[in-house]
Amino acid sequence: MLKKGISKEEIIDILEKKLSNDFEYDSGSILGSMCTNAFDFGKEIYYKYLNKNLGDPGLFPGTAELEKELVSEIGALFKGKDIIGSFTTGGSESNLIAVRIAKKLRPDIKNPEIVLPITAHISFDKAADLMNIRLRKARLNKNFQLDLEHFESLINKNTCGVIGIAGTTSLGLVDPIEAIGDLIKDKNIFFHVDAAFGGFVLPFLDDLGYSYPKWDFSVNEVDSITADPHKMGMGIIPSGGIFIRNEKILHRTGFEIPYLAGGNFKHLHIVGTRTGGTVIAFWAILKNLGRNGFIKIVKTCMENTQYLVDKIDEIEGIKTVVNPVMNVVGMTPERGYNLCEIDQKLKNLNWMLGKFDDFNLIRAVIMPHVRRPHITKFIEDLKLVLG
Ligand SMILES: Cc1ncc(COP(=O)(O)O)c(C=O)c1O
Repeated sequence: MLKKGISKEEIIDILEKKLSNDFEYDSGSILGSMCTNAFDFGKEIYYKYLNKNLGDPGLFPGTAELEKELVSEIGALFKGKDIIGSFTTGGSESNLIAVRIAKKLRPDIKNPEIVLPITAHISFDKAADLMNIRLRKARLNKNFQLDLEHFESLINKNTCGVIGIAGTTSLGLVDPIEAIGDLIKDKNIFFHVDAAFGGFVLPFLDDLGYSYPKWDFSVNEVDSITADPHKMGMGIIPSGGIFIRNEKILHRTGFEIPYLAGGNFKHLHIVGTRTGGTVIAFWAILKNLGRNGFIKIVKTCMENTQYLVDKIDEIEGIKTVVNPVMNVVGMTPERGYNLCEIDQKLKNLNWMLGKFDDFNLIRAVIMPHVRRPHITKFIEDLKLVLG
């Protein structure tokens, strides 16, 4: 640590240099991230309220009330009534909370298990590791859809929870949530849907004429949903959300912190101190954009997604894996071409995509920061790479 502080100007200068090799969303080269530039007005609001601490809501009752209002509004967007929940650091924390609830609700199971698709996010492996839960992973069929029969065969007397995904990390696909619901009907098994990515895409696709499977609280068996403002919600990093159908779950499984200055309260969070600023910012973003604003953002992303798919279809050496449901495009090499080589050569040209070795694919996420000219340039470079 420096004994004597240095000037702000000097510090900014040092930071500019140190951070100069970070990638910028606006360059368009970040094709493999589910995060994007936060909405400008949200940044302003965040800066104004960044000292608010929702870890001690008794001290910030206004912020806590705003969070409740926002949860209820998003719950309604996900076709639920009187939904409870709260905002988290992201999809991983929300999924961790959901897995913990599933375990806590079944103290009668000595060796708890969770059944989930093989495409589920790594956060479930983390949760299982931390909570000593066995994960039973169901395979996919050849169209990259969940093999429901295999999923069903993994459910047994030790199953405390099942997971479905609405917007897989690798391909943005939606699992058959209704069918999973049918499998666990009346079985006292917790059903969590991970819509970390899809949560702020799917509700707006109807208006744009796209079709997709039912995925939200309109499926009676769905108990909770993860949806992240810091992905397609245009929110500030870090902001995730967990939305829960039954408020009794908070009373049955919540933690308490008796010493807080603002008073004791029940909560489900892994963290203690947590940002109120990002929640207030997301409230403001939702109010400012409105439904129409989100529809417009999703429309542009979906049109750009189709543009990329059409262009890939014209190229020899690579093909799209499936028809995208949302703004995620998976590409797989054709015979004679190598995935790692393609990915590395693209990286050398500054294109940052996600690589999924298990499925032999690279994937682009067509976020709001990815624009037509970026895609056109990417296609030119992809042709070069494929020789
Ligand atoms: C489906 C899904 N769930 C959860 C997560 C984890 O989210 P986070 O990185 O915000 O913890 C991701 C991340 O990409 C995801 O795609």
